[in-house]
Amino acid sequence: MPKHIAVVPGDGAGKEVVPEAVKVLRAVGADLEFEQFDISADRYLATGVSLDEATFEQLKAADAILFGAVGDPRVDEHYAASILLRIRFEMDLWANLRPAKLYDPRLSPLRDEKLREVDLLVVRENTEGVYVGAGGRFKKGTPDEVAIQEDLNTYKGVNRILEHSFSRARREVCMVDKSNAMGHAGGLWQARWKALAPLHPDLVTRHLYSDACSMELVRDPSQFDVIVTGNLFGDLLSDLSAQLIGGMGIAPSANLNPDNGKGLFEPVHGSAPKLAGRGIVNPIGTILSSGMMLAHLGLTAEAGAIEAAVIAAIRARECTRDIGGDLSTAEAGNAVVKHLKGI
Ligand code: IPM
Ligand code: MN
Repeated sequence: MPKHIAVVPGDGAGKEVVPEAVKVLRAVGADLEFEQFDISADRYLATGVSLDEATFEQLKAADAILFGAVGDPRVDEHYAASILLRIRFEMDLWANLRPAKLYDPRLSPLRDEKLREVDLLVVRENTEGVYVGAGGRFKKGTPDEVAIQEDLNTYKGVNRILEHSFSRARREVCMVDKSNAMGHAGGLWQARWKALAPLHPDLVTRHLYSDACSMELVRDPSQFDVIVTGNLFGDLLSDLSAQLIGGMGIAPSANLNPDNGKGLFEPVHGSAPKLAGRGIVNPIGTILSSGMMLAHLGLTAEAGAIEAAVIAAIRARECTRDIGGDLSTAEAGNAVVKHLKGI
C-alpha cells in the first residue's frame, strides 16, 4: 500500500520548493501517493478561513504531511499561527526535530576549520511554552496597558520531550533552559532532567542555560550532539544552528507525534516573501525534510539516497545562489535528482 502524503505548498517560497521535493520523492521511487491541498493566503483572503475543518480532517488522516511555508505580507502574523501552530497543537506534534549537519566546509560561517564539524539535532518541545497563547492584553492601547504571555510547561510535556531526546542521541544530550531566571518553568525542567538523565548512563548528559548555549554554538558547534529544549529556545537555537550549516535555505525539520506516528515535515525557513516568485529560493531544506519524512515512514534506504544526493549536489556546487551555486530552484531540484544513485 502506498503511503498517502498530504502536500501543502502554502505561500511564497513554499509554492516553489515543495514541487521540487515531490519531484525528488518521485525520482527516488518511494511508494507514495500525493494529495495536494490549497492552504494559502490567497484562499484565506477569498474565503476568510485559513484552515477549514474538512481540509484539516484530511491532513490528520494522511500518513504524513509535506509542508512548505505559510505567511504573506497581505495578512497579519496570526494567519501563519492559525495554520501551522494549530496543526502542531491539535495533532499534538510534540517533538520538533531540527537537524543541522554541515555538508560542505565551505558553507560554514566560522573561520576556524576545526570547528566545521557540525552534526547536531535540536529537539524542540513543540506544543507548550509561550506558544500556547495564554495571557492577555489589558487596557490595550492605553499608557496603562499590561501584556501577559504565560509560559506553560507540564510534567507530561517536559517529561516526554526529555525522554524522546535520549532516543535520538548518539553520544550526548544537552538540556537547555533558563532556570536561573525563570525558576518556575525551569524548576520543572530541572526536576524531570535530574530524574531522567541518570537513567541513560551510556550517554553524556549536561545542562546549559540558553544564553550560554547560544554562545557555545557559535564558539564550537562540533561539541553538540542533541540539544533538547523548550518551544521558544528551540525556535531561536534552530535558526542559529541553521546558519552554522549554510543558512535557512537548507535546514529541514520534522514535527512528530511519536505516540501515534503522525508527522508534518517542513523546511525551517518561512514563505520568504522578499525572495519568493523569482525562482531563486533553495529547495534543499524541503527536499531534506521530505527525506526525514521517508525515514519516519520506514523508507530508510530512500531517505539515505536523498541525503546522499543532496550532499553530492552541494559539493558539486549544483545548487542555488545562497549556497554558492548559480542554479534556479527547479534546476537545483533537478540536480538532486541527477545525483540520486540507485537504491
Ligand atoms: C518556525 C516558525 C514558527 C515558529 C512561526 C511561523 C510561528 O518560526 O517553524 O520555526 O515560531 O515555530
Ligand atoms: Mn522559527
